[in-house]
Amino acid sequence: MSLKTLPAQLKNLFTKRMHKLAFRLLEPMDRWAFRPYYRSPLAVRPHKDTDDYLQRWAEVKQQSHPEIVTFVQKTGFAIDEEWFQDLMLLTRMRVTPNPPVASEHGRILYSTLSAYVAEREFESVNILETGTHLGFSALCLAKALQDQQQPGKIITMDLIPHDVKMYWNSIADEQGPQTRLELLRDYQDLLDQYLIFLQGDTRLQMKKLQLSRVHYAALDGAHTYEDIHLEVASLQNKQQPGDMIFFDDYTLTQFPEVVKAIDEVCEKYQYSQEVLKCSEGPDKGYVVAVKL
Ligand SMILES: C[S@@+](CC[C@H](N)C(=O)[O-])C[C@H]1O[C@@H](n2cnc3c(N)ncnc32)[C@H](O)[C@@H]1O
Repeated sequence: MSLKTLPAQLKNLFTKRMHKLAFRLLEPMDRWAFRPYYRSPLAVRPHKDTDDYLQRWAEVKQQSHPEIVTFVQKTGFAIDEEWFQDLMLLTRMRVTPNPPVASEHGRILYSTLSAYVAEREFESVNILETGTHLGFSALCLAKALQDQQQPGKIITMDLIPHDVKMYWNSIADEQGPQTRLELLRDYQDLLDQYLIFLQGDTRLQMKKLQLSRVHYAALDGAHTYEDIHLEVASLQNKQQPGDMIFFDDYTLTQFPEVVKAIDEVCEKYQYSQEVLKCSEGPDKGYVVAVKL
């Protein structure tokens, strides 16, 4: 070993050691930073009466949403009703203290994505979702691809891990704590064919995602003004005219900052903006945005 090369070799050794150390710390630090999400954030124990979920389900099925019905008819693509209702029971029905949860966004996602791929020819489409939660919207998107026989990938992100057993505030909690993968076992074909579950904060994960194109994005994760701006900005070199963004919770009374941000990004980045209202709550709404 010559004296000349020693500093460089030492530098190399130091870099390697630091890399090893950082690598060892990375996973535990990541887990620590998001620890509440590993500890069953949606329910600490199963709800005692399964019938309450069925009751919620019955209430939600009674609701009518004329504006969404008209919109779905206009697209020409309606999701299979029985399939939709079953998925809604498993992944959307919650019990006290939350009110009944409308799931009309699932219909809109299915119809808009179906129409989008039916009108075009792609070898494969890339879809990005923020806010997986139990997987309801991701599965409605996957169903659209499957029904259109369209190959593609749906990358869906959430702070809640996919492979940790927990309670989900779902009718399935009576079976004990489960991972999301186990919870969705009846949809394994769609999971295998289309879904990629990514755990982490969208602010970090979206930066790391090196996709050249995102044909369709569904944004329903962090509900802040800044996050909407960051998420839409990060899509800008990945979307072309005709590509779409679906925004949930365009609901002024509940999320004024989200509404403001959606209006701003649609104008700034040139998306047409169709606002759809569902009948749950005074002004619960969604936005279907198309890149101009
Ligand atoms: C309203 S729920 C999504 C509902 C889901 N799209 C559905 O249809 O059932 C919002 C989800 O976003 C997740 N979330 C919130 N902030 C996030 C962030 N910064 N990064 C990733 N996920 C986030 C929450 O953990 C929650 O599961």
